[in-house]
Amino acid sequence: MANGRRGDIPLEMPLVQSAEVVPAVEDRSYVVFIMGAMVMAVGAGLVLAILLSLAQSGAFGWEERVPWLIQAHGWAQVQGWAGLFVAGMGLRLLPRFAARQPFRRTRVLPVFALLFGGAVTRVAAQAVDMGGLSERLMAVSGVLAGAGAASFSGLVLYALLTGRKTNEPWRWFCMAGGVWWAVWAALLVAQGMDASANGAYVPSLDDDATAWTVMLAAIGNFIWGVQSRAVPVFFGRKTPSLRRAVVPGVLLNAGAAAVLVSPWLDDVDQREAVMGAGFLLSGAALIWLPPIAGSVWGRARRLRPRARRASRFVLAANVFAMIAGALLVWAGVRMLFFDGDNAVPARDAARHAYGAGLITLLIIGMAQLVAPFFALRRVEAVGPSLVERGAWWCLLTAAALRVTTGLLAEAWDIEPRMQTSALAGALGWLGLLLFVAMVVDAIRSEPRMKALMAEQASAARGRNRPPG
Ligand code: HEM
Repeated sequence: MANGRRGDIPLEMPLVQSAEVVPAVEDRSYVVFIMGAMVMAVGAGLVLAILLSLAQSGAFGWEERVPWLIQAHGWAQVQGWAGLFVAGMGLRLLPRFAARQPFRRTRVLPVFALLFGGAVTRVAAQAVDMGGLSERLMAVSGVLAGAGAASFSGLVLYALLTGRKTNEPWRWFCMAGGVWWAVWAALLVAQGMDASANGAYVPSLDDDATAWTVMLAAIGNFIWGVQSRAVPVFFGRKTPSLRRAVVPGVLLNAGAAAVLVSPWLDDVDQREAVMGAGFLLSGAALIWLPPIAGSVWGRARRLRPRARRASRFVLAANVFAMIAGALLVWAGVRMLFFDGDNAVPARDAARHAYGAGLITLLIIGMAQLVAPFFALRRVEAVGPSLVERGAWWCLLTAAALRVTTGLLAEAWDIEPRMQTSALAGALGWLGLLLFVAMVVDAIRSEPRMKALMAEQASAARGRNRPPG
């Protein structure tokens, strides 16, 4: 053996040279999506959350900008933070789940550029009043993000339809998610155009219904798809069968569809009833899915001890999903059978139990458990650092405080309530900044860790070599 050590297994050179050959080089495009998601949350979404909370508390004179700031914040978080993360991990994981070759960088990076460009343009257009320029930017944003969402949908559906056909729930959830991204693409273009003729503001009924549908269905189906394939296994349980997941899966998607169509109804009572029914169905699904497709209790026995601490983010995220579900059921019942106005606090609290609780905590937990650049840290024999502990407590407290300020909307004066919301935003911002520090540290220490492990492996090989 010319270039190997004794005992190495010699591998043949590839015998074929064609477009089908998968190069043995790791594609790290998903890191670009994760970085983009973090830039959107730390640089825009949470800063806007603090500013708009302070503006609503009357701390400075931006009250008249609050409706635009709310939309800029909401979409920086949903399109930027959640959307970019789901798109990056989806494009990496789904071809592997479907036993297909990975997507090439040349396919994946343009999707990032479109989605990121669309999100940045929208936030800039709505956060800063630039008059006619803001309106034009809303149209540009709709086209860019719409093209990005349509491309993501196309790639995901192509991988799932041409890959291994299994009847496991993850495939059906991800298929539904792919279809919802196509719907979202159309909505992005339509609402970008609407806003370009409406002072850079998307009419609030459409905006609210779209935000819910995207969170529940476009993002939600991937949350339950990816979780159902991995999370029960971490906790030593079996992945759910299609029979167990099909009813809550249908409820989730039917509920999201009802919420989406509700603004088309002119009659206010009918509109409230359809939206209320949508909340009731999807809320029931959110109570049902975490115990079967995620996990709300137990120890992650299947993970290495170092990685187990990250599993508490996953557990907390699933508990927040159930809280969001209970609040949505409550809001749905009120809208269907009583006065819908009374449901506003529960809807705001549910939105943040879902956004700051489920989405954010799950992103942080799953990134640590499945992102390859954290792989080497998962085998380190050291305890959690101060930075890791800080991120956990800041993000958990931020989510809990933000849900509470939503729930107490009618019982508490706006000034202290919005100041508390600003505090929640500041804690969330700090928690994410600490997470960014963890990611940067993991990426930077990768070569050092790899060298250390190679050294240990070679020392072990030396010790095990037969004498003589
Ligand atoms: C702890 C951090 C956060 C704080 C302090 C915060 C604060 C706020 C506030 C004050 C509003 C306006 C509520 C109103 O008056 O109607 C709002 C709206 C919203 N938030 Fe957050 N938020 C946070 C995190 C998040 C996250 C992580 C997400 C999603 C991933 C999210 C998604 C939304 C959405 C979709 C809206 C409605 C936007 C719209 O109407 O277009 N928020 N948030």
